Amino acid sequence: MGECDHIRLEDVSMAFGRREVFTGLNSCFPRGQISVILGGSGSGKSTVLKIIGGLVRPHSGQVWVDEENITQLKERQLYQVRRRIGMMFQGGALLDSLTVFENLAFPVREHTKLGEDEIASRVRRCLEAVGLNDVEDLLPGQLSGGMTKRVALGRALMMEPVILLCDEPFSGLDPISIRRIEQLLMRINEEFSITIVVVSHHIPSTLRMAEQVLLMLPGATVAGSPKELLAHDDDRVRGFLHEDFGGDPDLQVESIEGSHGEKNWSRSW
Ligand SMILES: Nc1ncnc2c1ncn2[C@@H]1O[C@H](COP(=O)(O)OP(=O)(O)O)[C@@H](O)[C@H]1O
Ligand SMILES: [Mg+2]
Repeated sequence: MGECDHIRLEDVSMAFGRREVFTGLNSCFPRGQISVILGGSGSGKSTVLKIIGGLVRPHSGQVWVDEENITQLKERQLYQVRRRIGMMFQGGALLDSLTVFENLAFPVREHTKLGEDEIASRVRRCLEAVGLNDVEDLLPGQLSGGMTKRVALGRALMMEPVILLCDEPFSGLDPISIRRIEQLLMRINEEFSITIVVVSHHIPSTLRMAEQVLLMLPGATVAGSPKELLAHDDDRVRGFLHEDFGGDPDLQVESIEGSHGEKNWSRSW
């Protein structure tokens, strides 16, 4: 395994019943970088995240996380690996009857023996890291979509993970909230040197934030930097990244400018 590979999938195949999701998948996710997994709906993006997070076992192949083949681990050992991985699920998955504070405290109460003072200061730190304060006593139902995602992100940081997996952190958000989450992920990646794997179908933010892109196409997976994929030989790859975004003019502008680095946000309005 190369020095830079924090997570590596080798010849991984997965099926649910008779439905094959992917076969012979090979990919690696460099340590300390942001990787984005793109692909059509049902291509297996969430499944890849769940395999990396040790929530589902692939049918065959090897999955290396931190130099350990997690497909070989017993449930108890897998539990130790999962502790080092923060997960932000599709939809946020906050517990509706618990306050924001209790939602964040939950994983720490489950997995550690930290005292109340330490838990409280960690909750504050994690909410700060996602740019929130004065929300500890709110219930999930009182949060906006963007805040829900940020709370879910804050909760994913509570166990001080070395790997952060985010499933569709941008779905259902307005462009400004998308920007905010994107910038938070980039800052978290820098500040805490966390390896981040994001599943997304949002091309513009992918072009801005990804150091590596893994594009899951039917029967093939292509990896590379955003630049490499934008200039890829395969029409399908270029087509996916340059797709016309269903005619949404905001996204058009974002996409073009995203490939040239920073841009003036106001121009997309
Ligand atoms: N627990 C499951 N049981 C049966 N089929 C599943 C399960 N999870 C995912 N699938 C199927 O596997 C395929 C890939 O799903 P998923 O990884 O969620 O795709 P994506 O996140 O790219 O939309 C889909 O066809 C989906 O219906
Ligand atoms: Mg999914």
